[in-house]
Amino acid sequence: MRVRTTLFVLLLLTFLLCVSLSSAQLPPDVVVSARSLDVHLQDLAFKALFRPRTGVSYDAQVPTNLTGIKVSAMRLKSGSLRTRGVLSYKEFEIPVGVVENPYVERLVLVYQNLGNWSDTFYPLPGYSYLTPVLGLLAYNGENLSASVSHELDIKASDKPVLVHFPNVKPVPMGVLVKCVYFDLHGSVHFDILLPGNVCSTVQQGHFSIVAGSKTPSPAPYGFGKVQFGEKNQKKLKSVLWIGGILLLMIILGLLVVGVRRHKKGSRVQKLDCVAENNEILDVTSIGDIKVPLAFGTRTRPVIEHEYFA
Ligand SMILES: *[C@@H]1O[C@H](CO)[C@@H](O)[C@H](O)[C@H]1NC(C)=O
Ligand SMILES: *[C@@H]1O[C@H](CO)[C@@H](O)[C@H](O)[C@H]1NC(C)=O
Ligand SMILES: *[C@@H]1O[C@H](CO)[C@@H](O)[C@H](O)[C@H]1NC(C)=O
Repeated sequence: MRVRTTLFVLLLLTFLLCVSLSSAQLPPDVVVSARSLDVHLQDLAFKALFRPRTGVSYDAQVPTNLTGIKVSAMRLKSGSLRTRGVLSYKEFEIPVGVVENPYVERLVLVYQNLGNWSDTFYPLPGYSYLTPVLGLLAYNGENLSASVSHELDIKASDKPVLVHFPNVKPVPMGVLVKCVYFDLHGSVHFDILLPGNVCSTVQQGHFSIVAGSKTPSPAPYGFGKVQFGEKNQKKLKSVLWIGGILLLMIILGLLVVGVRRHKKGSRVQKLDCVAENNEILDVTSIGDIKVPLAFGTRTRPVIEHEYFA
């Protein structure tokens, strides 16, 4: 009977564990990092390139769970990028002399405007964004139907790439305003804001203008998790703790039950043994006479019924 109770408790605990773990699963449509967003947006951008004309920007369709983000793609011959640049690709002004590495014949420039998702994917403690975060990334554009296209490294050699921010939130006098640049390796850099709300760069990455309120904290901005899932992460953590403790209890419970069973088992065996010995003793004491000895006296241990009922 005790075994039953223990089993019931164990089942209950297992059930609770399952419930808590299943409720801890993050919703499937959560993007966890800025880099995985890049990959996702590149995929969307390439889908917009159906028989694209060179040097024309094509806007991509963004799924509803990313409403607010704008993505587009432009395919270029690398020769023309180098010798002519792109006078204006959205906010970006790409000068002559931009080269890619490794060399490809055609490349695709993917433009991102993260809109109200800027803080989500590029959290920057101590600063506030005065513009959306804009991204410019270069990919191999030789095979547009390739599911994953390789990112290229582009560098401006003559003049820098300029980012013209058209709408910048006003800030009170005296607040320090800076350009911020997130490279593709997880580092954040600050630079001076040029007249006319312009930031400059020699590399690809993500750009914005920020107002700094506190001392700068140029720590790597963490490629792993972003704020988007922070609440969920916390919930997940606590639930995993509870789950772990429950699991431990279950294992302990199983151990206790196992030990008890083992003990009881050996006790029953001992009793059986004694009973058998009695039988043998009875037989030998009577000798050759073949009379049924077990007058119903062969005492089966009552204990056994109690235990295995
Ligand atoms: C958006 O939702 C779709 C399913 O509807 C999912 O496949 C995709 O990964 C989600 N994207 C993001 C960025 O959350
Ligand atoms: C951005 O705005 C859109 C609606 O315009 C909304 O659906 C989306 O949830 C917002 N994103 C964030 C991170 O607040
Ligand atoms: C482009 O990529 C697709 C998918 O990976 C592949 O099937 C196709 O053969 C590639 N085309 C060329 C010209 O390499």
